[in-house]
Amino acid sequence: MNGIPTNALLAVANLAYAYNGAVAVRDVSLQVNPGEIVALLGSNGAGKSTTVKMIAGALSPAHGSIAFAGHAIAGAPCHIVVRHGITLVPEGRLVFPQMTVIDNLRMGGHALGSAAEAARNLARVLAIFPRLAERQGQLAGSLSGGEQQMLAIARGMMSSPKLMILDEPSLGLMPTLVQELFRLIQQVNAEGVGILLVEQNVHQSLRIAHRGYVMEKGQIVLSGSGKDLLGNEFVRRAFLGH
Ligand SMILES: Nc1ncnc2c1ncn2[C@@H]1O[C@H](COP(=O)(O)OP(=O)(O)OP(=O)(O)O)[C@@H](O)[C@H]1O
Ligand SMILES: [Mg+2]
Repeated sequence: MNGIPTNALLAVANLAYAYNGAVAVRDVSLQVNPGEIVALLGSNGAGKSTTVKMIAGALSPAHGSIAFAGHAIAGAPCHIVVRHGITLVPEGRLVFPQMTVIDNLRMGGHALGSAAEAARNLARVLAIFPRLAERQGQLAGSLSGGEQQMLAIARGMMSSPKLMILDEPSLGLMPTLVQELFRLIQQVNAEGVGILLVEQNVHQSLRIAHRGYVMEKGQIVLSGSGKDLLGNEFVRRAFLGH
């Protein structure tokens, strides 16, 4: 497939999308290898969310291919993509506010079809997210913003993903919670889950990312290791303010 190594967990090639004729993504190719954290960076409106929505099956690409663990999934709907092992935690805190924390988590395990696996995952996420364990019976809508963000991520983990896509998870969190969130992302990754991380928090995300891509106007304009991108002059000027 266009010279992309077939051992990639996720291999996206030449992806394009337009909203009612307005092109948002024009030619995006990227990959996530097993065990990697990959950052997807770019200014507002660059096309990051549109790209990850196509990968997760929320939008059907106008053009291009998406291979996941050897399966061609471009155009497949979300519920099929989830079964292949991709979970998207979208922008904003989309928890079910009128449901308890524990019921939100159970909803995340719904696609599994195995009660035993759902129970194992529940025990695992409650161990990783002790704040949520303490608040199991609380209505999700009454959690703080940061806690709701943790819940959205924990719910994403309930479906046994092989790849988690996080769209701006640190948005609106205070710095200490951002630190905690990035540690949690590394912890999830250490358990063998690939991570595609869309972030405004460029410095912190490149510090934990194995590799990264920079998008501008619907295209990838730069890619490299997290370390190289942190030192890259364009990245420093555009995102780090120096
Ligand atoms: N539902 C929609 N209808 C029409 N245009 C849209 C829609 N969603 C996004 N767009 C447009 O597509 C372009 C890319 O948007 P996208 O949300 O993918 O950017 P982004 O990189 O995620 O930005 P941000 O950092 O602000 O979240 C923007 O110009 C946006 O206005
Ligand atoms: Mg976005």
